[in-house]
Amino acid sequence: MTPKDIDNLRPDPAGIDKAVAYLRAGDLVAFPTETVYGLGADATNDEAVATVFSAKGRPSFNPLIVHVANIDAARALAKWNDAADTLAQAFWPGPLTLVLPLVPGHGLSPQVTGGLDTIAIRAPAHPAARSLLSAFKLPIAAPSANPSGRISPTQADHVKEGLNGKIAAVLDDGPCPVGLESTIIDAVNLTLLRPGGVNVEQIEAVLGRPTAQRQTQDITAPGQLASHYAPNVKMRLNVETPNPGEAFLGFGLMDCDINLSAKGDLTEAASQLFEALHLLDKEGRTIAVAPIPEVGLGIPINDRLRRAAAPR
Ligand code: TXA
Ligand code: MG
Repeated sequence: MTPKDIDNLRPDPAGIDKAVAYLRAGDLVAFPTETVYGLGADATNDEAVATVFSAKGRPSFNPLIVHVANIDAARALAKWNDAADTLAQAFWPGPLTLVLPLVPGHGLSPQVTGGLDTIAIRAPAHPAARSLLSAFKLPIAAPSANPSGRISPTQADHVKEGLNGKIAAVLDDGPCPVGLESTIIDAVNLTLLRPGGVNVEQIEAVLGRPTAQRQTQDITAPGQLASHYAPNVKMRLNVETPNPGEAFLGFGLMDCDINLSAKGDLTEAASQLFEALHLLDKEGRTIAVAPIPEVGLGIPINDRLRRAAAPR
């Protein structure tokens, strides 16, 4: 049997209705968020959630982020606290994920949280994601819509290349504006678990205190594993001059194959990063990457680049 092609849906009322019907039937629908495309499943449906892990080839101990429409929906699932409230008021809807204790009677499939007693939760800002959440009414579990360990998808075509035949549909609304995954904060210990779309400086300013860095020893989740976001080809970082035969991924005014931002803008570079890696991966040459400053969005950009370049 040949696998069924992905149903390409538009984010109009008919497309949203169809996406909701798939989710209700326990099927998987990839949808755009402001960060990357997510692989959505009904978070209360055991079979649907199990299919997320098998479609991605994701280890079952690595928990999923639960997407909700707003703070009220989050409070039905997570034990809310003052820090969570401050952060959600400031950054939701948006690219910030909060890790909090689960509340009893949450109704989620236990596999969503990988058996942990905490939940990672966020309210995305993308209009198509918001339409889907408000029409579906239940929480949507969604990891990034890529095979486990590979480059994250910032366009519907990336989703199709990685997951065709394995999921029902993709809600196609063009490129994701932020282009990097959400920042993940443990909102109990105020520990930064993953740098991302919201700068940690902004988070600390809103909290009025510094966040802690996660212990590098404590690897409980592949999103934090050394090798992740990886293309098939090799990568070299902080390259001033590429070697002959290498593809050069630039930043700032320079001669290169693809420039993340000729004007040296980190927001633009973040939005271009995964598309550039997808494109250069197809060429088969080693990717040499120009230095990117370790400030603001440069922090999550360098985080993703280091994991993409890490030995596998
Ligand atoms: O921007 C994003 O966050 C995207 C979009 C689709 O929302 N999602 C995303 O999901 O990046 P994923 O599965 O690729 O990364 C989720 C990360 C993983 O590193 C996972 O281990 C971590 O969140 N995570 C999930 N639940 C957790 C928990 N209870 N405690 C600590 N980390 C958790
Ligand atoms: Mg991911």
